[in-house]
Amino acid sequence: MNNGINYQFTKIFDRSVIGVSILFTLSISLTSWAQLRLDSFKPGELWPDTDGKHINAHGGGFLYSNGTYYWYGEHKGKESSAQVGVRVYSSKDLYNWKNEGVALSVSHDSNSEIVPGCVIERPKVIFNEKTNTYVMWFHLELKGQGYAAAKTAVATSNNPVGPFKFLKSFRPNAGYWPVGFQKELKNKTYGKEYEKWWTPVWKQGLDEGMFVNRDLEKGQMSRDMTLYVDTDGKAYHIHASEENQTLHISELTDDFLDFTDRWARILPGGQNEAPAIFKEGKYYYLITSGLTGWEPNAARSFRATSIWGPWIALGNPAIGIESEVTFRSQSTYVLPVFGKPSAYIFMADRWNPKNHIDGRYIWLPITLTDDNRLIIEWMDEWNLDWFNKI
Ligand code: DGJ
Repeated sequence: MNNGINYQFTKIFDRSVIGVSILFTLSISLTSWAQLRLDSFKPGELWPDTDGKHINAHGGGFLYSNGTYYWYGEHKGKESSAQVGVRVYSSKDLYNWKNEGVALSVSHDSNSEIVPGCVIERPKVIFNEKTNTYVMWFHLELKGQGYAAAKTAVATSNNPVGPFKFLKSFRPNAGYWPVGFQKELKNKTYGKEYEKWWTPVWKQGLDEGMFVNRDLEKGQMSRDMTLYVDTDGKAYHIHASEENQTLHISELTDDFLDFTDRWARILPGGQNEAPAIFKEGKYYYLITSGLTGWEPNAARSFRATSIWGPWIALGNPAIGIESEVTFRSQSTYVLPVFGKPSAYIFMADRWNPKNHIDGRYIWLPITLTDDNRLIIEWMDEWNLDWFNKI
């Protein structure tokens, strides 16, 4: 008898559990469905692509082509090293991103330089109108060598979503002195007293170009990097060089596949990385970070009337709570919003070195002040209408 009651009760209980779970599943699917159409940015939150999976494109670079934005970035796993390659997403509205697959794949040919386990960082893509080619550059570190190789690498495709073909990796500007380098410092020999880092004599050597001299023949170091195509069509590669102590800017050849002999040092000894550049009116603006590995630090901003400098320091563009650590993020790109004048989005990575795939994206609008400075303020949620107010 007892068993009978229990049986009846269990049946009723089972039915209601099934009912509840159907409702629950339905509401989850409705929620996921609702999530698929996003209409705002929520910096630092999980950002589902159109399949509902957190976007996996870290250290991103952006390209606008024929009404579509493309987001290229490092496909990360738990670890940071490249196991897959560069992933690409596409979007018409900047909120909803479709996974377009792997734009540049690591190679399983053991002779390749981009085998699984190498480091592929901060991929950027530009379009060359003369050759009708999409050109990708990225920071490459060779497998098993930590960050010692300090190379940049180039790949091309006829399609924005790839597949990109890896062409070569190298160090920029081998054999060429930077623009304006003092004659008397060329081929100067630096003795033992310059070897110990952080001493006043070492700092003096660094500032005057000791590492430029050291790397003249094999090419200058190139780690964090970005690309910029100017309004006259000339393209530039900006990279952290000289043991990450000085940024370099190097002009690219007309086909964007190599360097010309023109390059300059930006802010010698300034310890800038994560460069992101844009131009508004007659000014170029540069946002960088300091050097603290995966840990965040205060962003810096600079302004110049020529891309070759001089660059004037404007201070930390971030203001408010957590501005001293750039809202726990590090710059990767500044995107001009198509069709909206003076609308620029600061794009940054909130790295998660314990689980890189969970790295988050911090996108915030940039305010250009009347005295030509930059301000970036935190917002929990915002959309492109924000730019209508400026
Ligand atoms: C900071 C750089 O900006 C990142 O791209 C990455 O190279 C890490 N350092 C590695 O520690």
